[in-house]
This record gives sequence, C-alpha cells and structure tokens, in this order.
Amino acid sequence: MEVSKLLFCLFLHLWNVEEAAADIVGEKEILLQFKGNITVDPHDVLASWSAAGDPCRDFAGVTCGDAGFVEKILIHGAELEGQLSASVASLRFLHILSLFGNRFSGGIPEEYASIVTLRKLNLSRNELSGDLPSFLETSLSSPSGSGCELLFRRNSLQLV
Ligand SMILES: *[C@@H]1O[C@H](CO)[C@@H](O)[C@H](O)[C@H]1NC(C)=O
Ligand SMILES: *[C@@H]1O[C@H](CO)[C@@H](O)[C@H](O)[C@H]1NC(C)=O
Repeated sequence: MEVSKLLFCLFLHLWNVEEAAADIVGEKEILLQFKGNITVDPHDVLASWSAAGDPCRDFAGVTCGDAGFVEKILIHGAELEGQLSASVASLRFLHILSLFGNRFSGGIPEEYASIVTLRKLNLSRNELSGDLPSFLETSLSSPSGSGCELLFRRNSLQLV
C-alpha cells in the first residue's frame, strides 16, 4: 500500500477516536438497549446492568479501557434469549464481542459493520439464522471511502 493512503487512513482513525470522546455518557444507554433486546435471562447475569450503575465498574461481563470506554463484552453460557441489538454498533471502542453459548436468535445486525475497532466476534453456539452480513464477506476491493474501515477490520477481525 502507498504510504499516503496509509497516513490518510491513520488520520481518519485518529479523528474518529477524538470525535468519540463526546460519546462517553451514551455508552451506558447503549448497553441498556442491548439488555432491552434480551427477552430471557434465566440466571440473572444481567441483573447488575442497571441504570444506576457504572458500566465500567458494575456491569457483569463488561470491560472498559483506561479512558472509560467499553472495550469488551463477554457473556458466555448464560442461556440469554433474544436478539443481538444493533445498538452495540455505537460503542466506538468495542474490541471483543463474545457471546458464546447463549440462545440469541435472528440475524447479525448489519450495523455491526460500523464497529471499526472490532477484532473478535464470537457468536458460536447460539441460535442465529440468516445470511452472514455482507460486511463480513466484503473484500478490500470496495470503493474508496469504506476502504479504510475495511482495512482495519480485515487486518484484525476474527470471526469465530
Ligand atoms: C431491539 O429493541 C429495539 C427497541 O425496542 C427495537 O427497535 C429493535 O428492533 C430491537 N432489535 C434489534 C435487532 O435491534
Ligand atoms: C468462542 O469462545 C468459546 C469460549 O471461550 C471457545 O471455547 C470457542 O472455541 C470460541 N469459538 C471459536 C470458534 O474459537
């Protein structure tokens, strides 16, 4: 790749990071929306996800980075039923979404294509159906504009 293209992508990436600083208060709301799309939580694993809590300190399965943004959601084997919420696509620093061994049904929201920081998406052992969203199949030969995002994603995303 040309250096100029690389620098441009890097610039876009950093710009996105700065812009995200304004969103910090919205992250709890996003997580509560994710919870809202879960219809059955037989072991009450999301009981700690409350409007009064601090997502980084109190929400089970949620890990934040030093700057206080959610980086990881890991809830395994909890028998959660419901749909994968499109809302988590608005978590600007999400690296890992690992929901192995639940009962999520329906499809993988297309909105997840916009999580440029995502490195690992483990949705194994759920009851998902439908087609793989196109973003998981798209190659780097896409038109410029989305090329940078795809670059970051393709270099690091592991779909498991
Ligand atoms: C999740 O819940 C919201 C609000 O009730 C709803 O609009 C949305 O369609 C649900 N499903 C997904 C996949 O986001
Ligand atoms: C998803 O996570 C589970 C639990 O850590 C792990 O056992 C499984 O191997 C992962 N899936 C894949 C395909 O790596």
